[in-house]
Amino acid sequence: MGILHTLSLLFITTPLLLLLLEENVSNVEARDHHHFGKKQKIKNSPKLSPAYSPAPAPSPRYPPSIPSDPSYGPTPTDYNSTRNCIFDVTDFGAIGDGATDDTAAFRSAWKAACQVENGVVFAPSDLVFMITSTIFSGPCQPGLVLQVDGVLMPPDGPDCWPKSDSNKQWLVFYRLDDMTLTGTGTIEGNGQKWWDLPCKPHRGPNGSTLPGPCDSPALIRFFMSSNLVVSGLRIQNSPQFHMKFDGCQGVLIDKLSISSPKLSPNTDGIHIENTKSVGIYNSVIGNGDDCISIGTGCSDVDIEAVTCGPSHGISIGSLGVQHSHACVSNITVRNAFIRDSDNGLRIKTWQGGTGSVTGISFENIQMENVRNCVIIDQYYCLTKACRNETSAVYLSDVTYRNIKGTYDVRSPPIHFACSDTVACTNITMSEVELLPYEGVLVDDPFCWNAYGLQETLTIPPIDCLQDGMPLSLAENSSYAC
Ligand SMILES: *[C@@H]1O[C@H](CO)[C@@H](O)[C@H](O)[C@H]1NC(C)=O
Ligand SMILES: *[C@@H]1O[C@H](CO)[C@@H](O)[C@H](O)[C@H]1NC(C)=O
Ligand SMILES: *[C@@H]1O[C@H](CO)[C@@H](O)[C@H](O)[C@H]1NC(C)=O
Ligand SMILES: *[C@@H]1O[C@H](CO)[C@@H](O)[C@H](O)[C@H]1NC(C)=O
Ligand SMILES: *[C@@H]1O[C@H](CO)[C@@H](O)[C@H](O)[C@H]1NC(C)=O
Ligand SMILES: *[C@@H]1O[C@H](CO)[C@@H](O)[C@H](O)[C@H]1NC(C)=O
Repeated sequence: MGILHTLSLLFITTPLLLLLLEENVSNVEARDHHHFGKKQKIKNSPKLSPAYSPAPAPSPRYPPSIPSDPSYGPTPTDYNSTRNCIFDVTDFGAIGDGATDDTAAFRSAWKAACQVENGVVFAPSDLVFMITSTIFSGPCQPGLVLQVDGVLMPPDGPDCWPKSDSNKQWLVFYRLDDMTLTGTGTIEGNGQKWWDLPCKPHRGPNGSTLPGPCDSPALIRFFMSSNLVVSGLRIQNSPQFHMKFDGCQGVLIDKLSISSPKLSPNTDGIHIENTKSVGIYNSVIGNGDDCISIGTGCSDVDIEAVTCGPSHGISIGSLGVQHSHACVSNITVRNAFIRDSDNGLRIKTWQGGTGSVTGISFENIQMENVRNCVIIDQYYCLTKACRNETSAVYLSDVTYRNIKGTYDVRSPPIHFACSDTVACTNITMSEVELLPYEGVLVDDPFCWNAYGLQETLTIPPIDCLQDGMPLSLAENSSYAC
């Protein structure tokens, strides 16, 4: 009886809590449509001094509260010392043949490991475990690890997805503190059949997009948790976002490989929102949407030694949708390489929002064949019918330093479209040098209502960045965060 009771606590199945855990932000997360049918150009790029050459692993600054040693977390060699804490899913009945539903075994192993300190739920190599949508819930004893050395995957597409399961998420980690997801294995998303749904962009008959709800599961979601480490794994082919953190504090992501095809819709690599103290290091991400996206309520985010591409780049936003209040601060992106991407470093806000984006630093970024290398878009809109409004999310203190490489000439490499009524202020440009990947640039760099300074002249030159501060920018409590 006691066991059953605990089980029901660990695996919340009441409709109310499932609703709580469901994503309810579909309109906020309306995504870019995709540009299909574009061919990769043959490489013929001019040589520039690189902004960034891959260097030894950086020493993470954030989050200070969790270990920065990348070898943190049990590895097979740790087993002897913690032998009694290993909960091998095969001992709980998992088969690992890629066909049998192993959900119950994972739940039982989790339940057992949750109750001991430093418990390890272990999915061994050479096995392929199929499990259905599961909420791995805490609170648990500290030091809990889910170690995947084999392959862990969901059912193959919408037709196999149990009707009673949420189709907005697959693995959910909820109410945990001091937990690690690691291993030498692969989290395989089996996304193809979701990407091919006729409601996805251009996947309907004759390249149309059919209407209707088009929910697809995010592969891994951390919700309302703290002091998390995710490391080492290969995470691929997600039906939708690969990893998503919301309402979390203290996240260390290290040495991940995330990949999905260039044309897989809405497959953001790592998305964070309402999450603070985040470090994302030494990871390689290629997918069909944002490489890393940072939503409202994020601060102290440190991104270093990340390679993106193909992708839609590293993105702050979109923010301020439907007149919402959005706050993002203290984001640094350093030593990154962005290639073959639709955007490079992007900040996007909707008309009509409030709040602010401040303290953003992009430093030592190498670009290769990137559209919109540096872009601020305060007119973000997914339909063609967004009205201009008098309020906006206020952008200030944004630094671009040592941004070099090549751009796709279909868009100007530098584009600052700030709100008519709320100027962007204190944009610093230093050593921004971008050359055409192929062909010649047709449009000049663009700025609208953007204030700041060039410490060194940019290539191509921008003469539209205004000095000083706008006269009209009064103190206004609607920007406060
Ligand atoms: C670790 O465990 C293995 C097998 O149980 C044993 O042979 C080995 O001696 C142990 N190593 C240490 C350092 O205790
Ligand atoms: C698709 O296009 C073909 C040729 O243009 C046309 O004959 C056919 O009716 C179209 N099918 C649909 C479902 O629109
Ligand atoms: C951002 O950084 C500044 C300077 O280090 C600090 O004063 C401020 O508290 C930080 N803001 C947040 C929200 O962490
Ligand atoms: C909104 O404002 C921008 C900048 O002034 C302008 O270019 C654009 O045409 C306006 N859009 C609408 C729909 O009025
Ligand atoms: C502050 O901003 C809001 C929204 O942009 C605007 O309606 C209001 O008039 C502003 N207040 C002042 C004192 O400028
Ligand atoms: C401009 O931004 C830089 C970098 O974020 C910051 O150090 C500086 O204090 C800001 N200047 C003003 C006048 O706010």
